[in-house]
Amino acid sequence: MFSAGLRLLFVASECQPLAKAGGLGDAVAALVKTLARRGHDVRILLPRYASIDPAALGARSQGTIRVPMGGETLDGELWCGPLEGGGTVYLLERDDLFAGGGVYGAGDSYARDAWRFSFLSRAALQVALDFDFVPDVLHAHDWPTALAPAYLRMLRDHEPRLARTGSVLTVHNVEYQGRFAMDAWRWIGLPDEQRTAERFEDLGGINFLKGGVAAADAITAVSPTYAREICTEAGGHGLRPYFTRRAASLTGILNGVDEELWDPRTDAFLVRRFDARDLRGKLACKRALQAAFALEPRDDVPVLGIVSRLAPQKGLDLVYEPLAALLDEGRAQLVVQGSGEPALEGAFRTMAERFAGRAGVHVGYSEETAHRIHAGADFFLMPSRHEPCGLGQMYAMRYGTLPIVRATGGLADTVLPYDESTGEGTGFVFLAPTVDACAAMLRYAIDTWYRRPAHVARLRQQAMARRFAWEDSTARLEKVYASVMGAREHDAAGASHAGGTKGSFG
Ligand code: ADP
Ligand code: GLC
Repeated sequence: MFSAGLRLLFVASECQPLAKAGGLGDAVAALVKTLARRGHDVRILLPRYASIDPAALGARSQGTIRVPMGGETLDGELWCGPLEGGGTVYLLERDDLFAGGGVYGAGDSYARDAWRFSFLSRAALQVALDFDFVPDVLHAHDWPTALAPAYLRMLRDHEPRLARTGSVLTVHNVEYQGRFAMDAWRWIGLPDEQRTAERFEDLGGINFLKGGVAAADAITAVSPTYAREICTEAGGHGLRPYFTRRAASLTGILNGVDEELWDPRTDAFLVRRFDARDLRGKLACKRALQAAFALEPRDDVPVLGIVSRLAPQKGLDLVYEPLAALLDEGRAQLVVQGSGEPALEGAFRTMAERFAGRAGVHVGYSEETAHRIHAGADFFLMPSRHEPCGLGQMYAMRYGTLPIVRATGGLADTVLPYDESTGEGTGFVFLAPTVDACAAMLRYAIDTWYRRPAHVARLRQQAMARRFAWEDSTARLEKVYASVMGAREHDAAGASHAGGTKGSFG
């Protein structure tokens, strides 16, 4: 829709394969890649975590970047290099902040994230000003970089070069808001009038996401249903009034599937590849999965798969008892890969011991095994209490694996419920976040597998035919960029008429 490519600066805490803790890393990487393919000059600023080797990426040092934080200037080293799929990556190196640990701090080290990610967010503006990349749009993601739009507003007041730069904040998950003690405020260096209950202050502390929502020129959420849910009491997790206030600038845009990484016809992780016309390879994948998890080699029993962060959001507590009952009856097998809450890790380990030969669990992270589960399972379980978008159910459908999900956020937007009277649908959807509702739908799906195999075959075809293209998501995003840029153009023109660039924090 744009005759010339835009200059887009992303700032984020994750971008796979360089850094990933969950779906945020997939989504950010796919957006950068797709926008680059669509002709935009898209660059992303990431921390140089210990796991990233700039030289291996072909990145070159750009020298020192001097980042003004509150009351002091902090130096880092800036690297710049090409991203494999298209686009450019800047890496912000500063060992005392980014070299130790993982992407996010846990336990005691969580408090440091206020320092780490405000430095990253403020540095994005310095990349713009000192490294010759003033973007049309600065695009931030989730709480870690939600300060970036606020820094942009602060600097626009006296930095004419930024007058035409707009900001977008994408909300991938409202449950993580970046709440910290007020002692980080001085370092953050935003004007004190931002330290109010309408902006960054929250119960006496700082809330990064809350202030970012107020500051961004436009906000996107990762599915249309989620954009509505965050404006409700239950879905807003305390931020309902702030999202509601911005409703006119809030758009739900569904994530997509990276069709190069997730394609059963080409997937190098599979023992045998397959497509919708010939599913023999899928059966081979099922057998290989059973072997890998020491399950009984049975074609006549459905395999249920789970690949997930083991977090309360994912609703796995709802499915635990119903699964145990099914396994006990010998009517299904189960493969789980995940890590997170120690209690859930322990529970699934116990389940695998109790039902050896019927259930297998890998507590840990592996891309390869994730692909094999998506391909080899018959059903994919995502009983999420909240799911902003969810990627697993879309990957599953592409591999002809039928999702069993709760109707929330992006799960409601992507899985078409099975209709027994017609055979239409792409999966199984339950409504209430209760063990009973979950158990009933799980049983119904398993019954369908045994009793209506023709419908299962049809659902598979319909699931595999669904397309969730990042091209569609980015086309919608471009419209958001256009609206933000139009508004900036208007403001900047107005300001130059009035003889200055009066700020717009109000
Ligand atoms: P979220 O971002 O909330 O974790 P998503 O469904 O959007 O949920 O994305 C999760 C991503 O992380 C998917 O790509 C999924 O395959 C991956 N993932 C989660 N846990 C694991 C794991 N233990 N091993 C491999 N991949 C995982
Ligand atoms: C978040 C959400 C998930 C979404 C992902 C990518 O981690 O929990 O639902 O798919 O971000 O946007």
